Amino acid sequence: MNILVTGGTGYIASHTAVKLLAAGHQLVLVDNLANSNIAVLDRIALLSGQKPHFYQADIGNYAALSAIFTAHQIDAVIHFAGLKAVGESAQKPLHYYRENVAGSLQLLEVMQEFAVKSLIFSSSATVYGDPRELPLTEQSPIQPQSVYGRTKWMVEQIIADHCSADPSFSAVCLRYFNPVGAHPSGLMGEDPNGIPNNLLPFISQVAIGRREQLSVFGNDYPTADGTGVRDYIHVQDLAEGHRLALKLTHTPGCHRFNLGTGSGVSVLEMVDAFRAVSGHPVPLIICPRRTGDVAACYADAAKAQHELGWQAQLNLTDMVADTWRWQQLNPQGYQTPPAKLKEKL
Ligand code: NAD
Ligand code: WQD
Repeated sequence: MNILVTGGTGYIASHTAVKLLAAGHQLVLVDNLANSNIAVLDRIALLSGQKPHFYQADIGNYAALSAIFTAHQIDAVIHFAGLKAVGESAQKPLHYYRENVAGSLQLLEVMQEFAVKSLIFSSSATVYGDPRELPLTEQSPIQPQSVYGRTKWMVEQIIADHCSADPSFSAVCLRYFNPVGAHPSGLMGEDPNGIPNNLLPFISQVAIGRREQLSVFGNDYPTADGTGVRDYIHVQDLAEGHRLALKLTHTPGCHRFNLGTGSGVSVLEMVDAFRAVSGHPVPLIICPRRTGDVAACYADAAKAQHELGWQAQLNLTDMVADTWRWQQLNPQGYQTPPAKLKEKL
């Protein structure tokens, strides 16, 4: 298929791109580089032997989008583009609604204009908010607790309404749990700007010596060791989930799937796994809870298994080992000069 990948140089999209190119798909990537690095394209080319078409453009820009749809016969769109920082979304709500909601609306309108009838959308487990019961199924109550979470749920609703109005349109909303890990080559991974918000990139930067210690946000949760429990999912498994979701391209309607492993890992378990794999110390201090955090969150991913034939294959050790390989090879993320990278490979 000819697939347009929005947010194409981002963390999850870049791993998905390598997987889709290996499966024989043709890709057109679009990204405004708000949160990614152009160097990702060379890494994709190195891993796949192909350099996909790339446009530096904003999905909110009608002229740019329609030029891309004019230049390429697109069969399906995988829509990753968006902003994802929960804290920032509370400070800049209008910006988040503009980028995530209005941007998605613009994309859907251009798809309609060019009669492109198939979409896969990056949603998030954050739409469930504070779970009333675990594990979370696709039927669990929706109650997003952040502006970011509400943008994801709004886009899901817009997509569902569009599917009702156009019975030939097919949409798949994938609700990712906590994506972590990196490509097993160590050539691609997560490269957050500034201080990482998320647990695993932070631990990784502590282990490599870029940061002094991890702040553990609360050890008084009603969990086995008192720290927060999450369903961490390897980015390579997520990438495979997108490949399999393409099966539904010709099945009209709005399909929703959880993508998680189904098991929870605590903050301290993650730290222990990292110490064991890296052999490096991870100094930590216990701090107060972070506002908005829930005690525990993990998926029931049975629907994805039954309907897509998808199941997470990689375990916690894989997630940590691949993160650590990426961190060691690229201590400055994608800023790491290619010559330095070659020395280490
Ligand atoms: P990312 O920031 O690495 O990737 C998003 C990409 O979109 C970036 O490359 C950014 O430059 C680009 N982008 C942002 N706004 C754009 C715009 N208006 N036009 C064009 N490009 C734009 O994030 P990621 O972790 O790869 O996440 C991908 C998607 O998955 C996002 O929609 C995110 O909300 C969703 N998601 C992420 C997680 C997670 O924890 N990583 C969890 C659930 C859902
Ligand atoms: C995991 C656990 C923290 C950092 C976020 C978004 C969510 C989704 C995935 C996009 C929690 C603890 C963390 C640290 C810590 N993204 N922690 N010290 O909050 O589950 O989910 O990313 O859709 O929307 O909210 O992930 O990695 O930030 O935190 O103790 O420095 O690690 O309290 O228990 P979270 P996270």
